[in-house]
Amino acid sequence: MTKIHGSKQTFLDADDDTAMEFLNTVADIAADRTYQKLKNFIHHQSTNRYQHCLNVAWYTFLWCKKMGLNHVSAARGAMCHDFYLYDNAEFYKTGMRHAVVHPRYALLNTRLHFRTDQVMEDCILHHMWPAGLGRPITPEGVVVTVADKYCASLEWGTKQAEKWAAYEKEYREKHGS
Ligand SMILES: [Fe+2]
Ligand SMILES: [Fe+2]
Repeated sequence: MTKIHGSKQTFLDADDDTAMEFLNTVADIAADRTYQKLKNFIHHQSTNRYQHCLNVAWYTFLWCKKMGLNHVSAARGAMCHDFYLYDNAEFYKTGMRHAVVHPRYALLNTRLHFRTDQVMEDCILHHMWPAGLGRPITPEGVVVTVADKYCASLEWGTKQAEKWAAYEKEYREKHGS
């Protein structure tokens, strides 16, 4: 888990100050035993929930740093924005609204396991905006909503690209072109 979707950087380059600062910022969360369970859940078809949160945290960290925002709390909030431990397919059967429930669940889990602040909580609670629980109240929260959608597109896109490549291969084999 040292790669980020859509990024050439890894976190193992000790010469990369930004990568090292990011690691220091999120390492305790990434290493937490309960948090690690996110690896057991497929997310956006092509990845797992742990990697998705790491992806969102990385872009949030970079963008907030560039804009002079609170990149530490924002990255930690992004790490926890999908810190919920249920299977989406099973949850949908209940008829409840996932967009409303999972940010609350993630916030409860985060409060249980880590120290939070207002920015972190905003990033978690309002990350589904314009769906879910309303708009973010901090600029960092807005960044997380964008990073989340950006990463979701990359992750879904990876799966769709694989599907289309397989379809094209099958078509060419069938039609000899
Ligand atoms: Fe989410
Ligand atoms: Fe997400």
